[in-house]
Amino acid sequence: MAFFFSIRLISLNLLLLLCFIPSICYGATFDPFTDKTKITYHDGPILTGIVNLHLIWYGKPEEIQREVIMDFLETLNTEGDKKVQPHLSRWWNVVESYQLAMKGKPTIGVESPKIKVKVEKEDTIDYAYGKVLTTQYDIPRLIKDVNHGDPNLLPLIITAKDVSMHGLCAGKCADHGIFENNKGFIVIGDPEIECPGACGWPFHEVDAGPKGPIFKPPNKNMAADAMVVALASALVNTITNPQNTGFYGGIEFDPIESATACKGIFGPGATPGNPGKVFTDRKTGENFSAHGNNGRKFLLPAIWNPATSTCWTITSRYFST
Ligand SMILES: *[C@@H]1O[C@H](CO)[C@@H](O)[C@H](O)[C@H]1NC(C)=O
Repeated sequence: MAFFFSIRLISLNLLLLLCFIPSICYGATFDPFTDKTKITYHDGPILTGIVNLHLIWYGKPEEIQREVIMDFLETLNTEGDKKVQPHLSRWWNVVESYQLAMKGKPTIGVESPKIKVKVEKEDTIDYAYGKVLTTQYDIPRLIKDVNHGDPNLLPLIITAKDVSMHGLCAGKCADHGIFENNKGFIVIGDPEIECPGACGWPFHEVDAGPKGPIFKPPNKNMAADAMVVALASALVNTITNPQNTGFYGGIEFDPIESATACKGIFGPGATPGNPGKVFTDRKTGENFSAHGNNGRKFLLPAIWNPATSTCWTITSRYFST
């Protein structure tokens, strides 16, 4: 998370600076396999109802990435074919269950109100702010110019592969934060050139750390499929902790949020460097964990399940560990 125009800003920016030395940055080195952080509720709001996104493509996005990301967003709230399971909306249901968790433990079998994510506005802008962006200066400027501070839109900035996003690649592959008036935003980077070995995993070998199986991307594009994972994680974190007063573990200045707490886990049996058990397409050999609409498939990250206080994956009920 990055905070601006507030007291918290100072300590957080300091923390961001320290993050370039990974060993002293808690968030960047957070390990769900050894760290027993529990996510708890801090009495503030979460996002509910309709979440209107303002999709801002920065630079030249590849067509495949645009299609895959749009299909992901458009599939979240649809039921899909009952016979083609598990569907992406099952995964989204766990995010929706946080609404019940605000009032106590979610009860299994009780349906939560829907949280609808809508792409309300879409813009593509060129490299007007250069090819190296910072969350401190460029992102606020860009959002101000493109979004005009519309309070009803949540800006989602997706950068092209030739753009460096300051703060991404080093331990995180997407970010979200707030500006003045508690307005939120999300930024996603393209790992293809910048950091395939950090943000392309599990579709690309990692630069450092334990090596495990590498997945075949379900949409045939390492960057697009990795960006879905990053976007899925950022959405979970933004919905459940939009103002850093919602659901998180650890300390306020460096919160461990609901997707971050389960980082590196995609299926049952996950261990450091091994994403766990997921499905394999019999024809193509592609690995995936959920179906989308139009025959699309996605790999989805684990989410902290407030009902069980453990990391939940959409494939866990299909495999024994
Ligand atoms: C991923 O797909 C490959 C085939 O391309 C398969 O051998 C492997 O077992 C799959 N991995 C998982 C975790 O299902």
